[in-house]
Parts: sequence; structure tokens; C-alpha cells
Amino acid sequence: MDRSKHRSDRTDLGGIDPADYHQTPPQNPQTIQPPVMTATVADARFASISAAAPDAILGLTEAFLADPNPEKMNLSVGVYKNAEGITHIMRCVKLAEQRLVETESTKGYLPIDGHADYRHHLCRLIFGDAADHTRVAAVQSPGGTGGLRVAAAFVGTQMGGGQMGGATVWMSNPTWANHKNIFAAENVPIETYGYLTDDRRSLDFGAMIDDLKTKPSAGDVVLLHACCHNPTGIDPTDDQWQQIAEVLSERRLIPLLDFAYQGFGRGIDQDAAAIRTVMRHCDEMIVCNSFSKNFGLYSERVGGISVLARDADTADIVRSQLKRLIRSNYSNPPRHGAAVVATILDDAELTEIWQTELSQMRDRIHSLRQSFVQTMANTGSGHDFGFLNQQSGMFSYSGLTPMQVDQLKNQHSIYMVGSGRINVAGMTEARMQTLCNAVASVL
Ligand code: LMR
Repeated sequence: MDRSKHRSDRTDLGGIDPADYHQTPPQNPQTIQPPVMTATVADARFASISAAAPDAILGLTEAFLADPNPEKMNLSVGVYKNAEGITHIMRCVKLAEQRLVETESTKGYLPIDGHADYRHHLCRLIFGDAADHTRVAAVQSPGGTGGLRVAAAFVGTQMGGGQMGGATVWMSNPTWANHKNIFAAENVPIETYGYLTDDRRSLDFGAMIDDLKTKPSAGDVVLLHACCHNPTGIDPTDDQWQQIAEVLSERRLIPLLDFAYQGFGRGIDQDAAAIRTVMRHCDEMIVCNSFSKNFGLYSERVGGISVLARDADTADIVRSQLKRLIRSNYSNPPRHGAAVVATILDDAELTEIWQTELSQMRDRIHSLRQSFVQTMANTGSGHDFGFLNQQSGMFSYSGLTPMQVDQLKNQHSIYMVGSGRINVAGMTEARMQTLCNAVASVL
């Protein structure tokens, strides 16, 4: 396929190369052989299958790619784009890859639980150097989603999820659109706890803590976003995390922290503060993390699941179960992304480059958020978006209604998630005025 013909589409594609979405080329009708019919249509096993709805987030990128409007903008999927609108490869990653080309000597399978050096660094980044890592069963997973799916299978098989008296998983309302799919796929019962005030602009901490105090039963799992809540960008304060951790501990609830945006909120270590707080109160917890965003390694699928147990022996037993679940699923994880992360974190100079690049991305998102708020104010729409400045990470919960989101898509080819979630990291200064004019026109 001639990829160069797609070059003009390269900007603003949600980090996706359109060549990866090519259609099957039409065949010459003369070469198509009719199937030999040995069964009636009624016997066709696949004929009665109905089509699935497009994915709430990735389905929008498919629609975006099919949109012929050259002015289209994709603010749906959570990928970072630079000032040129490109999901670029970070310099630290390029440097690490150059080293790997020189030094890597095998493409043999990784162990079921993944790349050892990678797992070591994963523990350090999440739990801190001071933590007792022997208590953590940390395994590499194909992205954060893969880690969550292993976690769901773990809750289902080892915590009785889906069986009488077994664990239910409690999620914030709202939460990442895929959370429910993942736990439903493993038949783990799902409930929600309160999260937002009625105007959907701030955390309803009272409702959240009341729900956690009264609704889940001991042994249930509480899914929390460790930082940069997806989709709202609204996080509890440090003091509120303290209170959450106390309730989790008192009520013997199992925290499951989804940690996909480390470094996009306040900083690499600061964003792990919630995990460290919960860890001080709860001696058992699960963390699912992703390096898709903070290393820009989206398509390499680099993530992990870490289960903190009371002691090292229990952690070993948990690891054996995680490995069993993985083996019957994807067998073992891919090497390249994990090798890149490990190469960077093994080397002081590359680590410093990574930290600098990540803080530049964080600062740029912050300034895009401010610029959006200011440019919206200048449109004279009379609608104050100042509350967006209190939100953190890649996303903003804009308060736009599903109808307004549809209008933006249909009238302006601007794509955002139906809940009104905007990927701030997908905005560019160059197109800020166009974006804000379009938003103002649907208010
Ligand atoms: C998102 O929320 O947009 C990202 O986490 C990408 C995804 O897989 O949904």
C-alpha cells in the first residue's frame, strides 16, 4: 500500500495511521468464486448474529477517519498530540529503540509475567522505592486495558466475583466507558458510587464517601482513578484521599486503582500520592497501570497489574494465579514496549530526558486548557468554562450535552465522546479559535 498518499491526513488522526485502517481492496468480480452451497441459509451459523454497536471511544476514531471534511478535529480518544497535531514518538523512546536495535539479541518469548527489569521499574514508579516490593505480585500486561481484564478475571476466579457472596466491583459514576465492558466480560457484578455534583462540574465528595461507607460489602472491590480521573478530570484532594483510604480500610474493601495517566496531573511521583496513601491504610490492593500515555507507547501495549498482598508468600501465590489466567488468555506479553521502558528507566540520562519530555507535555496540556477557557470567554457566548481550569490530566468534562456533541460532529466534524469529554491533549493552539467558534455555535 502506498502510504504516502495518506500524508495530508497525518495530522489530527488520534494517533492512528490511516493506512492501518485500510479497507480490503475490491476484487475483480471475475476472480470471485461463488461458494459451494451445501447448506441452506437457515443453517448458516453466523447469519443470525447481529452487529455490535461501535465502541463509545474508539468507534469515534473510526467515524473520524471516514469523515472526508479536511477541517475535521478528533478530540475523542485520549492520545497526546504535539503543536503540529501529531502523536509523535518521544525522543527518549527513539534513543532507547536505537540502543535496542544494536543490543537486542532475541525475539524469543518473554516469561508469562513479562520482562523482569520492566516489572522492577513498574513497582518503583507505582509504589515508590521505599515500599516492600516482595509483597507485590507485579505482572506485565498488554496495555492498561489488558491489566484491567486480568484483574477482572482475578476478581472473578479468586474473589468469587459473580458468585453468591462474592465480590462486586464498585465504579465511580461516571467512569471510563470501557471499565464496565471489561468487568462484564468476566461476569463480575458492577455497581456505582456517586462522584459528581448535579451540575457535573465538581466532585460530590459527600455522596462518594457516603456511598463507600454504606453500600459495598466487606470484600467488594472499589475501582478508583489514582489521578486524572477519566472522563471528568476531577480528582479528590490529598485530604479526601486520606478519608477514602480510611473508609476502605475500616470497611475491608479492596481498592483497585486504575493508574493510566501518571505524570499528566501534578508530576510523576505526585500522581502516585493516592496509591501511597491507600497503601498506608490497606494491606491488600490492586493497581492496573499503563505506560501508553506517559511514554507515548500507545500501539506497543505496555501496562501492568500489581497485586499488593499482606506478605511475600501470599504475593507469590497470587502471582501464580495471575500467570495461570494470562497463559490461557494471551500466553505472554509482547517484548518491545516493555524493553523500551526498561531501557529508559535503566539509564539516568534517558530517564532525565523522559521526565523533561513528560513535564513539557503536562505543561502544554495545562496551557491548552487555559487557552480554551479564555478563547471561549472571548467568543462572547456568555458560557463560563472556567471550571475546566480545576480539572487535571488529558481530559475535560465540558458539560456539553450529547445533543451538542452530536451537533459538533455533524455540523463541524469535531469529534468528542458523547458524555461531553474533551481530550484537551488533542487540541492545538493553531486551531483553538476554530474549535471555540464551533463550540459557541452549539451552546
Ligand atoms: C481513552 O479513554 O480515550 C483512552 O484510554 C483510550 C481508550 O482505550 O479508550
